Amino acid sequence: MTRTLVRYRCGSCGHESAKWLGHCPQCDEWGTLAAVDSGHRGAGTRADAGSQPVPLADVDPLGAPRRATNVPELDRVLGGGLVAGSVTLVGGEPGMGKSTLVLQALGAMAADGARCLLVCAEESAAQVRLRAGRLGTLAPDLLVVCETSLPHVCAHAEAMHPDVIAIDSIQAVQDPDAPGGPGSVSQVRDGAVRAQRLAKELGIATLLVGHVTKDGSLAGPRTLEHVVDTVLSFEGDRHHALRMLRALKHRFGPTDELGLMEMTGDGLVPVSDPSALFLADRRVGASGSVVAAVLEGTRPLCVEVQALVVPTPAPMPRRVAQSFDGGRLAMLVAIVQQRAGVALAGNDIFASVAGGVKVAEPGADLAVALAIASARAGAAVAADTVVIGELGLGGEVRQVPQIGRRVAEAQRLGFTRAIVPVSTPDVPGIRLTRVADLGAAMSQA
Ligand code: TYD
Ligand code: MG
Repeated sequence: MTRTLVRYRCGSCGHESAKWLGHCPQCDEWGTLAAVDSGHRGAGTRADAGSQPVPLADVDPLGAPRRATNVPELDRVLGGGLVAGSVTLVGGEPGMGKSTLVLQALGAMAADGARCLLVCAEESAAQVRLRAGRLGTLAPDLLVVCETSLPHVCAHAEAMHPDVIAIDSIQAVQDPDAPGGPGSVSQVRDGAVRAQRLAKELGIATLLVGHVTKDGSLAGPRTLEHVVDTVLSFEGDRHHALRMLRALKHRFGPTDELGLMEMTGDGLVPVSDPSALFLADRRVGASGSVVAAVLEGTRPLCVEVQALVVPTPAPMPRRVAQSFDGGRLAMLVAIVQQRAGVALAGNDIFASVAGGVKVAEPGADLAVALAIASARAGAAVAADTVVIGELGLGGEVRQVPQIGRRVAEAQRLGFTRAIVPVSTPDVPGIRLTRVADLGAAMSQA
């Protein structure tokens, strides 16, 4: 007697399950699982699974090797480089510099001996050649093809078998035989699924460029994020040269590293001293301005926190946070009011992190609170002072991770005093003012 082992596979992301599910747990789609016959087995005989369980400790932790892109800030965010067989989506608004970043990465990898294929679906080869000339990325191993047909792109990849392929952009390629026009949700997703399959089968490190609309979605299909291994977001202000690269999803490393680059006439260059850049335009001696030392991934950064407190007759005063969480601002305003007795009720309060870097950790709490108190009082916090600490709802100042490295970064930039949580160990070259709560911090600031 034989029995058929039926498995169920999601038609959208390929996830497999032993039982039928109405909802795919991997890509969140509904009704996409369908039965796939995985072969006949003799009843009672040992099933030959093909795969073999091994002790976890014996597994090579690196798995597929990483290939450094030789674009330092990109490698920082990727955790060392691109993994063979993986798909990385580089998303960003038009004009951000995605094509430049991808071309620089491919050029640098090709110069290192990797066979690279750049698929240009938006620009002519001449345009790319012009840009590559400016960037100095004309390695002989970098091949370019202008192509918008997805089947042709796959055929080129199979024939050439490159180490790295980049498709610029995923919205501009399409399968003429599939439904939907270029850039439609089904086309874009189909493109990403096929790129993923190709990458896995041939072990190609794949980069997909994806345009993000103003509302932050990758031209509709956020489902793309489920299909690919890594999603990088390339952000910045088009009117400023600073560009920030972060990982929104990363199957091969942490997602909290921030890459900082500047768009120059010679392409993207790493920002060598980000703290100095963020503090460059600081007005020393102004009220409502406090320098915080925050952690972006593994990198300590000094940033200027600013607050403005303005009387208003409006019954519902405004609380506006820029570059950090609005809910956190509301909480900090309540703490300053309630625990330090600062009257803020009849005031609009604006708070921002200068320079465009987004602060997503509580290590800047105390700095924001002091900036609000300083703005309200019209009294400046000493310019040589950096402020570090998380605030609890009781107004207590709490310790934050890697305090030593934050203080050391401030010391390197020339700050002579740090207001820090009580349990902070000494750091050479900088005086520590240890405070237990917000009241103590305000009286010592
Ligand atoms: P691009 O990479 O084409 O952006 P995207 O692919 O994200 O749409 O580049 C965007 C801008 O960058 C473009 O307006 C020109 C500018 N740029 C420079 O300032 N320096 C350079 O070296 C390059 C290549 C581009
Ligand atoms: Mg482009």
